[in-house]
Amino acid sequence: MAKVLVAYFSKSGNTKSMAEAVGEGVKQAGGEVELKSVGDIQSPAELVNYDGIIVGSPTYYGIMAAQVKEFLDKSIKVHEQLEGKVGGAFSSCGIEGGGSETTNISIIQALLVHGMVVPGFSSTGHFGPVSTGKPDQRAIEECKKLGQRIVDLAEKLSG
Ligand SMILES: Cc1cc2nc3c(=O)[nH]c(=O)nc-3n(C[C@H](O)[C@H](O)[C@H](O)COP(=O)(O)O)c2cc1C
Repeated sequence: MAKVLVAYFSKSGNTKSMAEAVGEGVKQAGGEVELKSVGDIQSPAELVNYDGIIVGSPTYYGIMAAQVKEFLDKSIKVHEQLEGKVGGAFSSCGIEGGGSETTNISIIQALLVHGMVVPGFSSTGHFGPVSTGKPDQRAIEECKKLGQRIVDLAEKLSG
């Protein structure tokens, strides 16, 4: 069974709602999920325990929030140990065109530097789910789909 971490930062709850939907998707696909705010992740060493790591952030000035960047910077402690794990990103922003896609890309860049495998999406948000403000039904469904895709891919890669 694929074990997936959903690591997120959220100040006013929008990204957290997305994280919960991603977690639901993981469970629907038969995976085991842990949802953690980046501030609650005690040590980067925890990351090696997961097959998939999905990272969510609000958009702050077109990229991930500093709290998420700090979490990713600390992950240097396990550099080379996350190679081949599956990753994904999701983000929230305040206005249409407010930079959620660039936020997802900023997260994905870091995951790729870890050597992780990151799927794109051909018919929904291409770089991972995005939401403007409180996630609507479309965003929730895309979050669930992300969770499912990460489990499916992690299982394929481990087989
Ligand atoms: C410091 C700061 C910078 C922000 N920068 C952007 C931005 O560049 N584009 C945008 O659309 N929204 C921006 N926002 C709005 C948040 O991305 C938005 O409210 C988001 O839904 C908050 O997510 P949360 O509820 O998970 O905290 C910014 C908010 C803050 C506090």
